[in-house]
Amino acid sequence: MGKKPKQGRVLPRSIIESGRKPTAWKPRRGLVRLSHSRQKLFDRLMKLPGNTALRELNLLPNGNRLLVKMEHQNKPTGSHYDRVYPHLLWALERTGINPNRFVLCETSSGNATPAFGYFSRRLGYRTIAFLPAELSETRKNLTRQQCDQVVVADSKKHGWGVFGAANAMREALEKNKAERQTDPNTKALWSVNHSQVTESIHAIRGLAREIIRQLHGRQPDYFVGIVGNGTILYGVGKELKRRFPRIKIIGVETVERPVLHQAKHPGQYEIEYGKNPPTIGEMAGQEFFAPGTGALGVDFPHLFDAARICSKIVLVSRREMEEALKELSGKKFQVGHTSAMSYVAAQKIASRTKGKIIVGIFYDHINRY
Ligand SMILES: Cc1ncc(COP(=O)(O)O)c(C=O)c1O
Repeated sequence: MGKKPKQGRVLPRSIIESGRKPTAWKPRRGLVRLSHSRQKLFDRLMKLPGNTALRELNLLPNGNRLLVKMEHQNKPTGSHYDRVYPHLLWALERTGINPNRFVLCETSSGNATPAFGYFSRRLGYRTIAFLPAELSETRKNLTRQQCDQVVVADSKKHGWGVFGAANAMREALEKNKAERQTDPNTKALWSVNHSQVTESIHAIRGLAREIIRQLHGRQPDYFVGIVGNGTILYGVGKELKRRFPRIKIIGVETVERPVLHQAKHPGQYEIEYGKNPPTIGEMAGQEFFAPGTGALGVDFPHLFDAARICSKIVLVSRREMEEALKELSGKKFQVGHTSAMSYVAAQKIASRTKGKIIVGIFYDHINRY
């Protein structure tokens, strides 16, 4: 069996400063060969997600067409993360992680941890999820249903949003390390850390390939992707760009948390809004609006790569998002905040162009908020 792979850092300083590369899980001694029955279990789990529809929404002006991948209908837990975890866990086991010696942990803004818990549980792992203090109770409960233990960050001690959740996880990892020094029988806490590893980019390739197949030869002009941790924006954007080199990749963020916008268009926010964007410290006490986008204070290495392939970052205000939610719900699309933000971005693009094909994603259902 291969030795434990090298663990990536949990919380570096800031996305704009560090320029850090994602971690790749590497065994110290050769990849582990999984038993036939274990591999069959993984094969079964990998078949659960995917094959979501690519639907055309006749909602754009100027003869522009919007094609949306219905990732909120993914199985088993209802987001694009259903595609990510079977692959991540398979890759981890190949490097030597197994349920006998390891407990898995993960952070999330509400979609990753339900999928993480669902798949890990079926593979026999005990799981711990670390969540932002400000996440809605609905979102916390989705994770509670799938994970063995949920630790909600203490906003005063750990900080706001995803930053707080990552700090709470780091604290637990350090505590576990100390415990193992005194009791070598204690299981090691292993942070899957989906947002930091190259394997999540490999895992999401299937989504891009489905989109390409479902386009049936049509050439998309734009892909609008939420700037979360970069799994979708870079993972899907990169594959689409490889197949359609002229496509423009557009990142979408909230006006409140313009993380990649700051890196991509420095100084522009200050000119447009007449103020600096809020810092993580200034977010204290504020609601966690639009989970899954603009994680202040946490370094996401895929966003550096995303910045390279993105033509532009579009900012969406809370009012615009709320109006879009109402409009989409009126058309029977009961989707969540980031789906509505993607729709707003598509409308903004469509107002300035004619006869283009815009591809977007519906990430999750409104009942998850
Ligand atoms: C609701 C929602 N939308 C969009 C995203 C962005 O996805 P990613 O960060 O995986 O690219 C996330 C990520 O957590 C999310 O929860």
